[in-house]
Amino acid sequence: MPISPSIFNLQNKNLPLHQKIHTAKVIIIFIIPMEFLFLLLLTSSTTLMAYSQTIVETLPGYPGPLPFKLETGYIGVGEDEAVQLFYYFVESEGNPEEDPLIVWLAGGPGCGTLRAFFFEIGPMQIKYGNYMDNVPALKLDPNSWTKVANVIYLDAPTLTGYSYTKTPEVVRSSDTTSASQTAEFLRKFVRTHPKFLKNPMYVTGISYSGIVIPIITEELYKGNDEGLEPIVNIQGYMGGNPLTNKTGDINSRLEYAYRVALISEELFESTKKDCNGDYAEADSNNLQCMLDINEVNKRVGDINIQQILDPDCDAATNLVRGGNPAINENRRFLRGKPVKLLPAQSMVTDTFCRGDNYNYATLWANDENVMKSLNVREGTVDEWVLCNLDMKYNYGKLSMPLYEFNVQNSVVYHEKLSKRDCRALIFSGDHDMMVPHVGTRNWINSLNLTITDSNWDPWYVNGQDAGYKTTYARDNYTLVFATVKGAGHTAPEFKPEECFEMVKRWFAHRSI
Ligand SMILES: *[C@@H]1O[C@H](CO)[C@@H](O)[C@H](O)[C@H]1NC(C)=O
Ligand SMILES: *[C@@H]1O[C@H](CO)[C@@H](O)[C@H](O)[C@H]1NC(C)=O
Ligand SMILES: *[C@@H]1O[C@H](CO)[C@@H](O)[C@H](O)[C@H]1NC(C)=O
Repeated sequence: MPISPSIFNLQNKNLPLHQKIHTAKVIIIFIIPMEFLFLLLLTSSTTLMAYSQTIVETLPGYPGPLPFKLETGYIGVGEDEAVQLFYYFVESEGNPEEDPLIVWLAGGPGCGTLRAFFFEIGPMQIKYGNYMDNVPALKLDPNSWTKVANVIYLDAPTLTGYSYTKTPEVVRSSDTTSASQTAEFLRKFVRTHPKFLKNPMYVTGISYSGIVIPIITEELYKGNDEGLEPIVNIQGYMGGNPLTNKTGDINSRLEYAYRVALISEELFESTKKDCNGDYAEADSNNLQCMLDINEVNKRVGDINIQQILDPDCDAATNLVRGGNPAINENRRFLRGKPVKLLPAQSMVTDTFCRGDNYNYATLWANDENVMKSLNVREGTVDEWVLCNLDMKYNYGKLSMPLYEFNVQNSVVYHEKLSKRDCRALIFSGDHDMMVPHVGTRNWINSLNLTITDSNWDPWYVNGQDAGYKTTYARDNYTLVFATVKGAGHTAPEFKPEECFEMVKRWFAHRSI
């Protein structure tokens, strides 16, 4: 496997054991857990590690002290804790003692969790067109999930966001490695934050993280069964447009395209018949099927796959075969205007390219003072990127230089979890053609759960229909499947108020 030269930059870095104090505004707490010290006495091979936690009281771009409690830090995982996972932790602004403790994973794989922090679930947003402290100005997100939950925004796997590794041997991750390291992270997180030991814990995220979320959740339950310390109060998981059955999810794009009137009924039927229902893995010697797929691609190739109503700002998409839906972010970045010259106000117009907004996050995250405020360890990250393209998933690829896609289908983990005392919320922006709700329903159906009190019933926010919900159960397992009407791939980015209401109700064990 070719390894990109940038990896070697990580060699011979003398990484500090813990972070220096940068400004008087920053309070540093070092915690070396007692059991860890005890371990040190027993195992000579263990190197001394310290967890670092920093309370961040101010951030460049935001005037005055932050009105919520933000902590950033690293937790080492894997052998010799060589993988240093960076997190932002926002304590609940509601009732931190009792509100759930959730971890949010941004997908990609390789996408920094700052994307969720600014564009999806709060606590902050970019104040478009305004600058402060030489960075894009920030404002508070009125629909921040941190009002009802303690949220860990985790940069995982390694080399995502500000996370890094201490040795080049461990830069490469995989679905299974990433999942077990995230589970390890969470157990260590509550060990170093014993205040949150009792809070109900949920593993949450979006898009590609649908592959790892159920694996992490199952691993936490299993670890508890095996007596791993500390016992975590894992109660379930949540996924938004979660990639789950890779082949099935890609295949479902055809039916989705038909249902939303992008292709004709005749073309849908003939493609289905000629390709035997399999488009993602269609046989290229099947000429009739290839011709159909070509016709399909002609009709949907210029549609924005992440939100079919948004303008398409990306390369034409080969929708169903070879399934290469991923945005080419290099191209995107090149075509982006110099960041300082971005238009002045919120830019929701006919020609609005949502992705351009992410440049603001890139600009903010690469600012030296921002990194200092967040206590990013000096010299560990050459450049913060929204998504690490050396990991990014493309259907059909088995690996990328920094990542091996070794789980094709995570349905089996949902099956395992359906035998536990566990709650799941799966939501789908119904205007997403990347991981369409059609495929999500297919794998949920394959679990043979019993439909309980709702079957595609509307759910409401402010008296308006916000989507449709179906509730399922088996023994002590419950699953709520909800569409979010009008939302694209990253549903909370498109329908923030609706998604906030939905999770608020779900966290409170109420009907959504
Ligand atoms: C995954 O999708 C494939 C292709 O559509 C299908 O054959 C398979 O049964 C699905 N598996 C599960 C567990 O849903
Ligand atoms: C669901 O039911 C079908 C048909 O009875 C069976 O073949 C399949 O194994 C079941 N799946 C699960 C996850 O129980
Ligand atoms: C469901 O939970 C209850 C209470 O914890 C327990 O007694 C019961 O055995 C569980 N049922 C199954 C099928 O796991």
